[in-house]
Amino acid sequence: MSSNKKHDKHHHARDEKGHAVRLPLWAGLLLAAMACVVVVLLGLLAVSIMERRWEAQRPSMVLKPLDEWETDNAVWGQNYPCEYETYLKTKITDTRTKFGGAFPRDYLDEDPRQVILFAGYGFSKDYKQARGHYYAVTDVTKTQRIKKPFNAATCWTCKSTDVSRLMNQMGPTAFYAANFHDLAGEIKNPIGCLDCHDPQTTVLRFSRPALQEGLRAIGQDASQLGLQQMRSLICAQCHVEYYFKVEPANYLVFPWTNGLTVEGMVAYYDAIDFVDYEHLISKSPMIKAQHPDYELYSTGIHAYRNVACADCHMPYRSEGGVKFTDHHVQSPLLNIANSCAVCHRWSEDEIRARVEAIQTKVADALILAEEALVKAHFDVAAAIQAGVVDAELADVRKQLRHGQFYWDYISASNGRGFHSPQESMRILGLALNEAHEARLKISQLLASKGVAQSVQYPDITTRKKATDVAATFVEGTGIPLL
Ligand code: HEC
Ligand code: HEC
Ligand code: HEC
Ligand code: HEC
Repeated sequence: MSSNKKHDKHHHARDEKGHAVRLPLWAGLLLAAMACVVVVLLGLLAVSIMERRWEAQRPSMVLKPLDEWETDNAVWGQNYPCEYETYLKTKITDTRTKFGGAFPRDYLDEDPRQVILFAGYGFSKDYKQARGHYYAVTDVTKTQRIKKPFNAATCWTCKSTDVSRLMNQMGPTAFYAANFHDLAGEIKNPIGCLDCHDPQTTVLRFSRPALQEGLRAIGQDASQLGLQQMRSLICAQCHVEYYFKVEPANYLVFPWTNGLTVEGMVAYYDAIDFVDYEHLISKSPMIKAQHPDYELYSTGIHAYRNVACADCHMPYRSEGGVKFTDHHVQSPLLNIANSCAVCHRWSEDEIRARVEAIQTKVADALILAEEALVKAHFDVAAAIQAGVVDAELADVRKQLRHGQFYWDYISASNGRGFHSPQESMRILGLALNEAHEARLKISQLLASKGVAQSVQYPDITTRKKATDVAATFVEGTGIPLL
């Protein structure tokens, strides 16, 4: 019976006609023994290759034990020269892509509308593109947005390896509540190894409590995360939306309890009446978006297909037979061959063109939203000039608060929408809708006051002009708009 063959446990070979023949037991054993020898030889070869690679990278083979709170990246660098040397390349500041790169692009020079949108807040005075991790301490120290005296040491949280050392000494609550300038003497080392790695094992490890608290708020157990999740969440320690609580003082919180959507965050901020600044021109209670990179990314195709931040921003790299993780965290468009092209079989030019096409569309929609929001702020100011009172303007101001947060959620996110093109366009649609609804209501309010003429929008085509226009609202009701 043919079914017998299935249950035949003897070793098989085939004769010339392809029929199975039975081999004696000794032959089977011999074959098995030969196979073992081959496996052992291959194993030895692999070990010798690995050792040579290991030696190439770490000539002494003796790793210097690292202190539990080793904040100095150079000390780690003695053990891990490839990672350290590529990390040091985050010093480079002259790279440019169409919408990104590490050069300190000045957003206000390029787009004076933002002077109006942030009127009454530090971002209308100083707003530059982020650059490499190496500069985190320098840049936060120099920014015009932080004035003396400034109490929130919280601003150090995403800048330095010294933060986890200090949090360990002081406890996070006391750290956040401290004065920014009082801790300046303690904070020397920029973002680095200790922020992402356990010094004993180098496995990825969270160093910031805010992310762990945020994950807990959405019911995720930080100890149960897989490596691929860690390769994104390690960045989410800093590349997220956040705010400072009033009580405990300046405590850093991710507004995640209603979910990681933009609507969830707006609902969160509304529920606690959170306000970053009162808008100088429309007197609306505004919220500034930070840089919700992780949240926006998590709505995109790459997150859906389990591609992590590190896959694109820290791809593998080979040098002299050593394969390691490239620690030059930067725009992947400056390293397409190692990042995107590993998965996408398109030419480099095609990949770049594809990214720029997505980004250009998002950038166009951003400008449309800005134009509408800028006009809406002036419309409210015109209504005030026409004698419309605060009580009548509450709804409109709330729409401006929401609309501008939607716009800013995409504007302040890194990558110009690439991380999640469809969600970016949807959110910009929400922004435009809020701005237009607000403007419609204002025109009705103006009509109810018998104002027939349309609002005369001032010239804000340069940074200087926009700044001068905003300045007229510091005292009084600003330049005449009707
Ligand atoms: C599929 C690849 C990919 C993934 C995954 C990815 N990014 Fe990006 N990222 C890009 C591209 C492409 C850009 C646009 C770069 C440019 O415009 O020069 C970008 C831009 C950025 C920038 C701005 C860089 C610059 O020079 O302007 C930051 C910061 C960033 N991403 C952080 C993240 C974080 C954090 C994550 C994970 C939450 C992430 N990215 C996931 C591809 C990716
Ligand atoms: C922003 C987070 C981040 C920082 C800062 C960082 N690393 Fe890493 N590192 C990673 C990620 C992500 C990987 C890949 C981990 C994986 O896939 O297992 C990695 C991998 C490594 C590895 C494993 C070998 C390899 O190359 O894949 C070593 C060793 C290492 N890093 C050392 C360092 C040193 C030394 C520094 C400081 C100079 C540093 N890292 C800074 C995120 C970081
Ligand atoms: C400890 C906080 C922290 C962590 C962790 C962190 N970043 Fe950053 N990142 C920053 C800050 C702050 C800046 C802006 C630095 C500046 O402009 O001085 C920045 C800038 C960047 C830039 C812009 C650099 C350029 O050349 O355009 C990229 C890209 C980036 N981060 C990606 C990542 C990725 C990917 C991860 C995770 C692997 C990550 N970051 C982890 C805080 C962090
Ligand atoms: C680890 C693999 C991986 C890496 C690295 C990667 N991608 Fe992707 N990418 C994917 C997958 C998977 C999809 C989904 C495609 C699908 O489902 O058919 C995707 C989709 C895309 C799409 C959307 C295609 C479409 O129109 O539906 C674009 C554009 C894209 N990737 C660009 C990039 C760029 C640019 C980079 C580098 C910055 C990059 N990818 C890096 C795996 C990757």
